[in-house]
Formats: sequence, C-alpha cells, structure tokens
Amino acid sequence: MAFSSRISGFYKLSRKEKMDMVQNLVELTDDEVQVMERGYESLDGLALIAENVVGCFGLPLGIATNFLINGKDYLIPMATEEPSVVAAASNGARMVRESGGFHTSSTEPIMEGQVQVVGVADPKRARIALLEHKDELVEMANTVDPVLVKAGGGARDMHVRLVQGFTDMMILLHLQVNVGDAMGANAVNHMCEYIAPRVEEITGGRVYLRVIDNNCVHRLARAHATVKKEVLGGERVVDGIIYGYDAAYNDPHRATGHNKGVMNGVTAVVLATGNDTRGIEAAYHAYSARDGQYRALPVWEKNADGDLSCSIEIPSAVGLVGGATKAHPVARACVKILGLKSARELGEVLAAVALAQKLAAERALADEGLEYGHTKCRARVVTVEAGAKGDDIEKIADIMVNEGKVGAERARELVAGLKK
Ligand code: MEV
Repeated sequence: MAFSSRISGFYKLSRKEKMDMVQNLVELTDDEVQVMERGYESLDGLALIAENVVGCFGLPLGIATNFLINGKDYLIPMATEEPSVVAAASNGARMVRESGGFHTSSTEPIMEGQVQVVGVADPKRARIALLEHKDELVEMANTVDPVLVKAGGGARDMHVRLVQGFTDMMILLHLQVNVGDAMGANAVNHMCEYIAPRVEEITGGRVYLRVIDNNCVHRLARAHATVKKEVLGGERVVDGIIYGYDAAYNDPHRATGHNKGVMNGVTAVVLATGNDTRGIEAAYHAYSARDGQYRALPVWEKNADGDLSCSIEIPSAVGLVGGATKAHPVARACVKILGLKSARELGEVLAAVALAQKLAAERALADEGLEYGHTKCRARVVTVEAGAKGDDIEKIADIMVNEGKVGAERARELVAGLKK
C-alpha cells in the first residue's frame, strides 16, 4: 500500500470525498468505512469495554495528511474536539516534508513495574538480598505470561531503590519487562503481584504496591527534522521560534502551554488508536520534568544555515495488542490507516506528530499569531459545509475572515451569491 500522503487541497473535499479517498489509499473495507462513520459497531459491543455504559460519546475523527516518516508516507487518524488541530498537524508535516520528512528511532519496549516493600528492619541489607535473588525473581515473573515470552518478550532485569518515606525508608523493587507490542500494564502488574509473596519472604517486610511504573523512561521514541527558513517565512520567524523555546525551556508557565500544544496532536492519535491517553500524558509530563524543572519537551535550534532544526524524545507506552486497540472497531480501522507493524512504530509516529503539531503552532506564534489561522480554518470548514467547491472555498473563506463574520449562515449566503 505505497501511496503519497501529500494531498494538496484535501480540506477542500466534502467529508464523503475525503473518506472515499482514504478508503482507496489504504484499502479500507466497506465495513471499516461504515464503522468509522458511525463511531462504533454496536452499543452492546461498547458496553464490554467500560462499565455502566449507557451510550456513546462521539468525537470528530479527522485525517492529517503530508506525513513522511523515514521515507514512508502516513495518513494520521486524529480524534479531537479542538478545531485547527488536524489542520495544524497536516501543515506542520507539509513544512517538514519539504526537507525530507521526519527521521525517527526508538528503544526496545521496556516497561517497569514497582513492588513496594515496607516494615523492613534493615532496608540496605534487604536490598542486597533482593538483588542476590534477581535471577530467581525474573525467572519467576516469566512464568506468568508464556505467550509474551514465546513472542520474544518477558521479564529481563530488576533493580532495587531505597526511598525515604514520611517516616521510614521503603524499598521499591523495579521489575523490567520487554512488553513487545502491548502497552504492558496488565502483564507487568500481573508479574509484580506474582513475585510479591517471594519478595516478602526474602526481605521479611510487607508488600503493598505492585503496579506498572508509568514514568517509562526506558521506553522512548525520538524524532528529528529540519525546516527551511523560507518555508517558515524567513529567518525572523526562526528567531521568533527560538525565543519562544527559550521561554518554554526556562519557564514552567510557558512550558505548560508549549507541551499542551504537543499533546494536542499526540493525545488525538493515542485516542484514535484506542490507547491510554492518561498514561501517555502522565509520562510526557514526568519526562518534561526529569531534571527537576518542568520544561518544553521538543528542542528547537537554529542551524548554521539559519534553518530550524527540531527534535523530541518522548516516553512511548502505547500498544497494538490488548485493550481498546483490539476491542474497538474504530481503533482497529485507525491502526490499519496508519499501516503499523509494531507498537514501536506507533511510538515513533507519535514523536513525529508531536513535532509537526508544535511546529505549526510555533510558526504561527512567531509570526501572525494564533487567531488568524483558527478563524481561517473555521471559515474553510463552514464554507465547505455550505457547498462551496474548488477555488470558491478560499475566496469565500477570505471574504468572511476579512469581514470578521465567520459563520454557517454567512457562508451559505456567499455560496448562493456565487451560484447566481
Ligand atoms: C492551543 O490548543 C495550543 C497552543 O496554545 C500551544 C502553545 O501555546 O504553544 C497553541
């Protein structure tokens, strides 16, 4: 399924035309199209995913275009309630594409689980005792999930930390697990629970917490790209982006908004693929504060040619097996649209989306500001909905933006006026 995701004027198509194009490009079946249009297969099916289900909360599912990642084209499904997010991601990806696209890499899918031991008379000695039993504990953990082990994953290693609590020193044992294509919480939680009684025997203490560590600093994805200054609007805009980054790196207030812009894209893709948005968000924010201060996640630099160089490294706790990714038919269709072969690939796509999303916002902030783009986006949407086609869309959207009157009724008036 090789295709180009550089689809100029995709936004000008009607919703149905957009869906037809996506269906053809990634060979969706009619059933997959139907389920994406409806949002679910059956309410009874949805009721199996969460509890006390009474209905369905529909969100717009858009497709971001123009993504070129390691030489491969991607269409990016994004579930979001925020206008302009999908347009901004496509726009950021278009700018990066002009200098060869995104380059990404990732680590092995290593997650950790924590086993907390309290009430130990000599925590330092108990720590050493646990480390002496490392092979036994890792082996024991590997009896829990033979399917994961057979697929090449499983418990790999273990380390033990001493952390001063409110009153006493506690032991936090970290079990490291290669979780393969899963997000990994279920497997890791289960392993931690399974080894807990033996940990109590070894330490003479009492185990309470046995749970996944969402601060997954060993499971990372990275992306980098260069954007030509001309594409951004000149060196003045590059300088503006660097000044903006200066604030976002050094001031936690600005860093919060900056990273919110990253999450606009990432959360939308994580949700569309049925992954855990809260886990990803918690991990990103923890990673942003890894040196003790909350900072911008992406890195923006001006290179020797005056062009913008951008990079990001992010935690990557996402999966393709288990959870809603497999259970939700729309999530399955979104994974198919992305053409993913592994959870690592999804993490790398998220890193590219993070950069594209933020790049578009950074460019606007360093130049004309945010409002113009938002208003223009909204104007285009209502114009297409009012039935405008081809060049008329830009024409009518521009009239509304210049009048300062963007709305469905005005768009219908202008479309009717052009038809006369
Ligand atoms: C809006 O949803 C996101 C931004 O505010 C992010 C930022 O401030 O950088 C544009």
